[in-house]
Amino acid sequence: MSLRLGDVAPDFTAKTTEGEINFYEFLGDSWGVLFSHPADYTPVCTTELGRTALLKEEFAKRNVKVLAVSVDPLEKHMGWRNDINETQNCTVDFPIIADEDRTVSNLYGMIHPNASETFTVRSLFVIGPDKKVKLMITYPASTGRNFHEVLRVIDSLQLTAKYSVATPADWKEGEDVIVVPAVSTEDAQKKFPKGLNIVKPYLRYTPQPNK
Ligand code: BEZ
Repeated sequence: MSLRLGDVAPDFTAKTTEGEINFYEFLGDSWGVLFSHPADYTPVCTTELGRTALLKEEFAKRNVKVLAVSVDPLEKHMGWRNDINETQNCTVDFPIIADEDRTVSNLYGMIHPNASETFTVRSLFVIGPDKKVKLMITYPASTGRNFHEVLRVIDSLQLTAKYSVATPADWKEGEDVIVVPAVSTEDAQKKFPKGLNIVKPYLRYTPQPNK
């Protein structure tokens, strides 16, 4: 059975470019992003890992720890990491898991045999501090992910966790958010002192609470 939203993220211990890591210990109380890429020394993956490294402060600001994974061996990761740093003008210092025996890839369903028997696709999981899966996205090997979109979803997830609000289509940081249906209008009026814009009883906006 493949993982679904709300499931507990499987724990594992793995060899990485930052030494052996136990996933849960590595995460501690932080949020996590675990993402797979098809193979080392490939162009799209090189840009993805570089972009992730360049967004280090954005992930840190949100209390998110990042781990990459592919089925290539550790020595290969080490050499490729130098290339990423050189070509993307960055310092990759998050762990890249060497998942040669596919333990992590299989636990997270990252190999889609009809796409490739051998390589992981571009799967990405956001894990909450409760170790539950909050987001799963899957891209094909030929399409690099949009890491600003990943940060945008993390912002939305963190607002939901803290303030019981949802975010509308194409929402961006700083824009109005939506009061979740589970909160009554009476409670919302107390909870959101910046005010409500009640378009319909089920469509209620409020300014972003943490702005
Ligand atoms: C890449 O990362 O560039 C890539 C990997 C596998 C297939 C196509 C592209």
